[in-house]
Amino acid sequence: MKLTVVGGGSTYTPELIDGFARLRDTLPITELVLVDPAADRLDLVGGLARRIFARQGHDGRITTTSNLDAGVAGADAVLLQLRVGGQAAREKDETWPLECGCVGQETTGAGGLAKALRTVPVVLDIAERVRRTNPDAWIIDFTNPVGIVTRALLQAGHKAVGLCNVAIGFQRKFAALLDVAPSDVHLDHVGLNHLTWERAVRIGGPGGEDVLPRLLAGHGDAIADDLRLPRPVLDRLGVVPSYYLRYFYAHDEVVRELGTKPSRAAEVAAMEKELLEMYGDPALDEKPALLAKRGGAFYSEAAVDLAAALLGGGGSPYQVVNTYNNGTLPFLPDDAVIETQAAVGPEGAVPLPVAPVDPLYAGLVANVTAYEDLALEAALRGGRDRVFKALLAHPLIGQYAYADGLTDRLVAHNREHLAWA
Ligand code: G6P
Ligand code: MN
Repeated sequence: MKLTVVGGGSTYTPELIDGFARLRDTLPITELVLVDPAADRLDLVGGLARRIFARQGHDGRITTTSNLDAGVAGADAVLLQLRVGGQAAREKDETWPLECGCVGQETTGAGGLAKALRTVPVVLDIAERVRRTNPDAWIIDFTNPVGIVTRALLQAGHKAVGLCNVAIGFQRKFAALLDVAPSDVHLDHVGLNHLTWERAVRIGGPGGEDVLPRLLAGHGDAIADDLRLPRPVLDRLGVVPSYYLRYFYAHDEVVRELGTKPSRAAEVAAMEKELLEMYGDPALDEKPALLAKRGGAFYSEAAVDLAAALLGGGGSPYQVVNTYNNGTLPFLPDDAVIETQAAVGPEGAVPLPVAPVDPLYAGLVANVTAYEDLALEAALRGGRDRVFKALLAHPLIGQYAYADGLTDRLVAHNREHLAWA
């Protein structure tokens, strides 16, 4: 089995490699290609990747290249984990929205729109080149904003599934709190990428007993602390929102807080510098502990599980993925992309039925879906008006003057990445 990772020079890659090495029975990789335009990073990350495989006795071959076409040739699956403009572009996404009193975040709000505009054309170009060489290859998209990027891929007819680690993170955390195996924890996970709620935590599978009330009673403080949301939010709603809901439920508090500290991009950039220095050490042959400070915990497990299921080699029967709604949430268009439990196999991902969604969540989901629709339009067709409309439609923006000011800033800060600007 041949796998290609586009954005393979990412400092995240050793996390992925570690998962590939540990879980080689689930996903027997014979050849792994890391593709990245940054040759210096590829050398460092590729070197460590080979040492991790060697230490763990994995005999798969790891190669690196900056030539995309060569890198994807013959791949059974292609994993996209790229960041157009790097941490420097992210730093801007996280800061200029604050000037308008809006949250500065890389996937939520105006920053997320900027990222979508930079990213969608690049990902579509890569996907097109994958299809030209390997029409049967699966594309697994971890590139943010995952909901919008996956929708772009599916609309263009690609064999794509979107992936995020939020659900697997909750699954692992709840399993540890309940002292059960992660595979025994089945989440009733509903919403869109980075806009989800865990409505039930079932033991044993989709029909199992819901232990969420017990979990909240016994561990509500720990869960709330982790999400940085007040405990009563969880108790009053009786669900566990993802930490991205903090940008909605505590928007003004987050804006104040972000104004007083360095951006996450700056933090990550400093960490990346340190990580790359470590990766250059020929004695290092495992993923360093510092990597755990990044947000991608369990990303490798989720990616292995998904690739294994799509390539017909096993993996969990149900997985949380991003895919077409197709009637699953009846209040959304069929071609909206939702993040949901799905049966995954060689034919792709088929969402499991979802219990009716309370208006408390359905309203926000429908609103953000409309924003994502307009955001994709803006990413595909460009133009200030489309950017403005997407921003106006966003529930965290909404006001004319904000949308106008944010449009100016978005365009000014992203000109080099936007063909039309
Ligand atoms: C989580 C999200 C990812 C996001 C990451 C950011 O893993 O699911 O979509 O990219 O956090 O982590 P970072 O360490 O870059 O802030
Ligand atoms: Mn994510």
